[in-house]
Amino acid sequence: MTSAELPEPSGRAALVTGASRGIGYGVAEALVARGDRVCVTGRNEDALKEAVDRLGADRVIGVAGKAHDLAHQSEAVERTMEAFGRVDFLVNNAGTNPVFGPIADLDLDVVRKVFETNVISALGLAQKTWHAWQKDNGGAIVNIASIAGLAPSPFIGAYGISKAAMINLTQQLAHEFAPRVRVNAIAPAVVKTKFAQALYEGREEEAAASYPLGRLGVPSDIGGAAAFLTSEQSDWVTGQTLVVDGGLFLNAGVG
Ligand SMILES: NC(=O)c1ccc[n+]([C@@H]2O[C@H](COP(=O)([O-])OP(=O)(O)OC[C@H]3O[C@@H](n4cnc5c(N)ncnc54)[C@H](OP(=O)(O)O)[C@@H]3O)[C@@H](O)[C@H]2O)c1
Repeated sequence: MTSAELPEPSGRAALVTGASRGIGYGVAEALVARGDRVCVTGRNEDALKEAVDRLGADRVIGVAGKAHDLAHQSEAVERTMEAFGRVDFLVNNAGTNPVFGPIADLDLDVVRKVFETNVISALGLAQKTWHAWQKDNGGAIVNIASIAGLAPSPFIGAYGISKAAMINLTQQLAHEFAPRVRVNAIAPAVVKTKFAQALYEGREEEAAASYPLGRLGVPSDIGGAAAFLTSEQSDWVTGQTLVVDGGLFLNAGVG
């Protein structure tokens, strides 16, 4: 979308972590498309700059860094406030799933790192956007969890436990930040991104066969859900986890 095609600015601003590609990019794209200004983050500076250019540098800024780094978190919130004067929405999307294997042999240092990125970062950023803007002005937070946080997924135990923690964090924040700030989570099944590539590459039709809606997810599916959860249409929704899974969970109990 060129800036000439974009709608009038909405006057709202969002911070979306891990948004140089994949789901975070899809969320940023959906928010920009409705007129929001957005700050995107990611570790690789060049990839982030490319994403900012594609999204539209007149409405989007990038702040490079690691989600769990406290100095980076502060910088991201400060730069969003400087650039846009507000931070209405926070989308905690950056996540990691670095290990695959039985839970009996999980390296506990790796588990700590997974928690650091997937859970503690989300809490840290929520604290910062709360103090910088949301506690006085309201807004919404969306945490990108996973269906792995709702039911066991063999061999990605550390990831699943962290996403379950993220879902409980969502409820905690929703309770404590009400009534000013609504906090919800999204639990996607497989979405076609670099992160999930190994799960479908070369066998997409087979992978999609178990999805009642007949296909895997794409980033805009999650972008649409995040746009809803940060809009007035969801004004009476908080503490919830919206499962966006092409109907995959409907298979529970079958067979
Ligand atoms: N794809 C799926 O099937 C799926 C399903 C359920 C949930 N999710 C969740 O969705 C989120 C996004 O996943 P994705 O599939 O979109 O992944 P992706 O395509 O690999 O994109 C990840 C994005 O986050 C950035 N990033 C990664 N680690 C980061 C870190 N530590 N700090 C800051 N930025 C970081 C990446 O850029 P850099 O590499 O440059 O940092 C990139 O912009 C994750 O939380 C994941 O758990 C994904």
